[in-house]
Amino acid sequence: MILVVGATGYLGGIITRSLLQQSHAVRIILRPNSNHSDLIGLGAKAAHADLKDPDSLPAACKEIDVVITTANSARRGGSDTVSAVDLNGNRNLINAAREAGVRQFIFISAYEADLSHPVPFLQAKAQTEDTLRASGLYYTILAPHVFMDVWIPMVVGNALQENRPVFLIGSGERKHSFIAAADVAAFAVAALNNATALNGKISLGGPEPLSWGDIISIMEARLGRSIPIKRLPVGQAFTHLPDLVTGLLTGMEMRDVRIEMEQTAGEFGVMQTTLEQYIAHAYGGDWPNE
Ligand SMILES: NC(=O)c1ccc[n+]([C@@H]2O[C@H](COP(=O)([O-])OP(=O)(O)OC[C@H]3O[C@@H](n4cnc5c(N)ncnc54)[C@H](OP(=O)(O)O)[C@@H]3O)[C@@H](O)[C@H]2O)c1
Repeated sequence: MILVVGATGYLGGIITRSLLQQSHAVRIILRPNSNHSDLIGLGAKAAHADLKDPDSLPAACKEIDVVITTANSARRGGSDTVSAVDLNGNRNLINAAREAGVRQFIFISAYEADLSHPVPFLQAKAQTEDTLRASGLYYTILAPHVFMDVWIPMVVGNALQENRPVFLIGSGERKHSFIAAADVAAFAVAALNNATALNGKISLGGPEPLSWGDIISIMEARLGRSIPIKRLPVGQAFTHLPDLVTGLLTGMEMRDVRIEMEQTAGEFGVMQTTLEQYIAHAYGGDWPNE
């Protein structure tokens, strides 16, 4: 049986639905107010647990062969802090998995994870990677770069909906390896019991590096009109942008990130989603402001 932790979130939900579709037996962790409506209906079994409560995890891990975790503290806030969930919670889960004799532990980290990263969330990801490497478990660390389907709606889709210019910090011409969340899910599923995925860290990006300028051009071509852009100077605080968006756009302006995916996609048998395919899938021709 496979335990998916984070199944009630975006990426974890895609992974869980894909596993159930492939007839895997799946257990998911639920907490009060988790949104799990369709997953139980599709056949997932529930374990009531919380990463912050180590005593709740042995039962969740009992008779589990593989743990896949996408869980992270970013969404709920409150007692879900980076330290409680991304650091200690993940350590609790790794310990419980080891005690339960789990065969493989698949951890969704992030491409930017680094012990010396200024963002505590990304430090915690790197610390969890180290805890996992030292655990004695067979592990797979998947380290995706930015998700197309999270960041493009946030930066461009919201601007279209609000009928305002797209705010970019700096030139917006740095290239980045945007990846569809469905592709990350496909790599996670393909990593199951896959010898080439054992005890390794695999960086994940999209099929081709793209800048915000490239993305906006592709969207303009589909929309048949130009999208106004307001370029803001690097290094200023912007009250009209959420901190998360300011931080991401500033970080993206610092360097290009190109992740060579041809070999990895071939080895895992994953057909990668292009930006054009994502846009067609996400918007189906209906643009947010039309
Ligand atoms: N978005 C990106 O561009 C990007 C890029 C690289 C990597 N990633 C990584 O991708 C992963 C998936 O992201 P996502 O957007 O799909 O996440 P998400 O939608 O925010 O889902 C978070 C999940 O974690 C669970 N969770 C949080 N605290 C928990 C706790 N204490 N105990 C048990 N479960 C807990 C939540 O459960 P509840 O429903 O019960 O709250 C939810 O299922 C994350 O690890 C993220 O860091 C994202």
